[in-house]
Amino acid sequence: MSDAPQTIHLADWRPFGWLVTDVRLTFTLSPDATRVRSAIRFEPNPDPQADRTRFFLHGEGLRLISARIDGVAVAPAITAHGLTVAVPDGGFLWESEVEIAPAENTALEGLYMSRGMYCSQCEAEGFRHITFYPDRPDVMAQFHVRIESDLPVLLSNGNLAGQGPGWAEWHDPWPKPAYLFALVAGDLVATRDTFTTRSGREVALAILVRPGDETRTAYAMDSLKRAMRWDEEEYGREYDLDMFNIVAVDDFNMGAMENKGLNIFNARLVLASPETATDADYERIESVIAHEYFHNWTGNRITCRDWFQLCLKEGLTVFRDQQFSGDMRSAAVKRIEDAIVLRNRQFREDAGPLAHPVRPESFVEINNFYTATVYEKGAEVVGMLKTLVGEDSYRASLDLYFKRHDGQAVTIEDWLRVFEDTTGRDLSQFARWYSQAGTPRVTVTEDWENGTFNLTLRQHTPPTPGQPKKAPQVIPVAVGLLGPNGDEVVPTQVLELAEDEQTFTFEGLASRPVPSVLRGFSAPVILEGDASLERMAFLLAHDTDPFNRWQAGRDLARHVLRAMLTRDATPDPAYGQALAGFLRDDRLDPALRALALALPGEEDTARDLYNTGVPPDPDAIHRAHEALRDVLAQDLGALLLQIRAAMTPAGPYAPDAAGAGRRALANACLALITRVDGGKAASVAFASASNMTDKVAALAALLATGRGEAELSAFERDWAHDRLVMDKWFTLQVHHAAPVAAAATVERLVSRADFDMRNPNRFRAVFGALPGNPAGFHHASGAGYRLLADWLIRLDPLNPQTAARLSQAFDGWRRLDAGRQGLMRAELARISATPGLSRDLGEMAARMLA
Ligand code: PHE
Ligand code: ZN
Repeated sequence: MSDAPQTIHLADWRPFGWLVTDVRLTFTLSPDATRVRSAIRFEPNPDPQADRTRFFLHGEGLRLISARIDGVAVAPAITAHGLTVAVPDGGFLWESEVEIAPAENTALEGLYMSRGMYCSQCEAEGFRHITFYPDRPDVMAQFHVRIESDLPVLLSNGNLAGQGPGWAEWHDPWPKPAYLFALVAGDLVATRDTFTTRSGREVALAILVRPGDETRTAYAMDSLKRAMRWDEEEYGREYDLDMFNIVAVDDFNMGAMENKGLNIFNARLVLASPETATDADYERIESVIAHEYFHNWTGNRITCRDWFQLCLKEGLTVFRDQQFSGDMRSAAVKRIEDAIVLRNRQFREDAGPLAHPVRPESFVEINNFYTATVYEKGAEVVGMLKTLVGEDSYRASLDLYFKRHDGQAVTIEDWLRVFEDTTGRDLSQFARWYSQAGTPRVTVTEDWENGTFNLTLRQHTPPTPGQPKKAPQVIPVAVGLLGPNGDEVVPTQVLELAEDEQTFTFEGLASRPVPSVLRGFSAPVILEGDASLERMAFLLAHDTDPFNRWQAGRDLARHVLRAMLTRDATPDPAYGQALAGFLRDDRLDPALRALALALPGEEDTARDLYNTGVPPDPDAIHRAHEALRDVLAQDLGALLLQIRAAMTPAGPYAPDAAGAGRRALANACLALITRVDGGKAASVAFASASNMTDKVAALAALLATGRGEAELSAFERDWAHDRLVMDKWFTLQVHHAAPVAAAATVERLVSRADFDMRNPNRFRAVFGALPGNPAGFHHASGAGYRLLADWLIRLDPLNPQTAARLSQAFDGWRRLDAGRQGLMRAELARISATPGLSRDLGEMAARMLA
């Protein structure tokens, strides 16, 4: 980088000095020399805050060919970040022509090529790699786009305005920021359908993929139509263009992108067939298709004033896609899955050097803030608001939000104000959820006297970088009370914990109740304390709240693991017994039972130990998890066989929630059975599997027990031609390598001809997977750390965004023993000292070392 990276502060935001009233772009596509001509109309911004001291347009890596203002050639001053030029006092027309080289763009930001296809990615600040422009989300304009190329499919945002041999023109009638611009050109095949909106407009839908992939688009199309209907029914939101296009691309840094009318997807989140995609893939496709579609209103029609407000669109849109998935499948199961992800990724982020508020106040590289905190915790904050104001006020507030702010670029203050105006409630304390980082800890104490039950709740949030002291937050704690026989005596009610400590009283109870606290995971907090085994088993058996029933099982597992790790205890058989009762209950959703059978992740156990003052040892944790699984496999033996047999679905594969739940339970049983049957059942299952879900489950069960060599080869033989399926093959080996062999496994995989480090999916399939094998990654030799650092340093010049993202694997270094701390810190320091390091990876390494 030519100059020292600058820190950007929320407090410094000022409106841009000009309004953009019209944008016309002409692309003449060529891999090494694409010409981009722009004609942009600027008018002075009447806002008194607007800064018109200097006319600056962003632009990076552009070769300027010509520039004119009102038809007269000008010579702007150009830096590495953009240009400045003297402009007239009133409105004017800016015209420029630049040259870019999409074929050389390995960063996959701006306009790039993916196996012969042109594709763009402009969020957050990619448009400046395409042409000179005020590349900030509060500058919204109508775009006219002309594309010239011999490729058969030429796409941009909005509606098709005309086409002929070698060209197409698009017009997007909705003003939008540049980050929502998109262009695609290639030899693509469309799956088409239509959707009639509730006001009777017909929308032409298309999913465009490489020739041959069109046999795998049906589920994405079905998901899209369901999402469109759902948004009309649940939020009153209708689609607003004549066409909606989705494109699948093989090389993509993220999951997908909500460009107006032209969503661009990582191919793995579009393409699915029973033979190639697992139930988890189908579920993810459904939710991401919905997520990007929902952005049309929450993100596009109403966008963010600046990138500090990212959670305004992402938190809300994740919340909406979670609601959608809950409605399409099982709400209880979805809530548990979301809580698992949140704890795994966001609680982890909050517990380390990368902790930041849902709305950060400064950044060096915005791409580093597409985080679990902004997305997943951002969604939790929306969910808490809904819980606090109630269903009806939530809907009324959202109606007001869409009415008041349509067409605007707004802030979290604007968002909260619609709730305040709708409900009359003061949300100034609630707003701390956006400004305070860290996961609040809540402790519960109980007291029973003469028919009165007192629950005392206390909150405390540990310090995070830059925030040593935290003020109390508003925490909605959903609580229900159970009687001694397991009946519910007080149904769920939401207690609002707003002070450091509060006592809530329940009167008129016949006997001492058992509280079920934080039902439905009503707030993203850690409940501290360790209930008795009896209490946990009681809740696992009786709680009427499905989340807390599952949570009780989790707590039991955690309790047993903690005893094994801190007191060398043998696994308590009470766990298996309590679990057996739950598993046997045929009235329970198989998907829920499958979740109960899974142990917490090794990283979760590590953090749990650390939080209670015990230094976690990744090897010991791995051994304890393995030992507990062995004990479960033995103790539950016959039951597992019986459930697996009962759950194996008859008939052809269908990706619906019911079938997926049965497969999940059958395969969770298989994983344990494989520990005691010498791998027999899994080998048979692998050979006879007719869908990828069962195939992968059988292979994983074998690999997890040190078997599966022959099956790995067979899998490779069958799928060598399919990149998405082979990504699974790479990941499975990394996840299930024995700790001592993990680094060698990675080295073997990356030396293969089909390891293409320029393809983010393949790079992630190996290096994104490595931290998912914690005992392997943290092997005391330091080989895992070294290897990851080597490859991040190697990837950084090609693709800084993906390199920076995967560097997060190092963020837990301070929780480890001195030896590992030293090894990890040394690798971070080595990354940090690499000459020419990107702003992306540089910022990450610096924050982790700070
Ligand atoms: N805005 C995209 C989404 O969440 C994510 C994304 C960010 C994609 C940056 C690409 C680049 O839906
Ligand atoms: Zn999003």
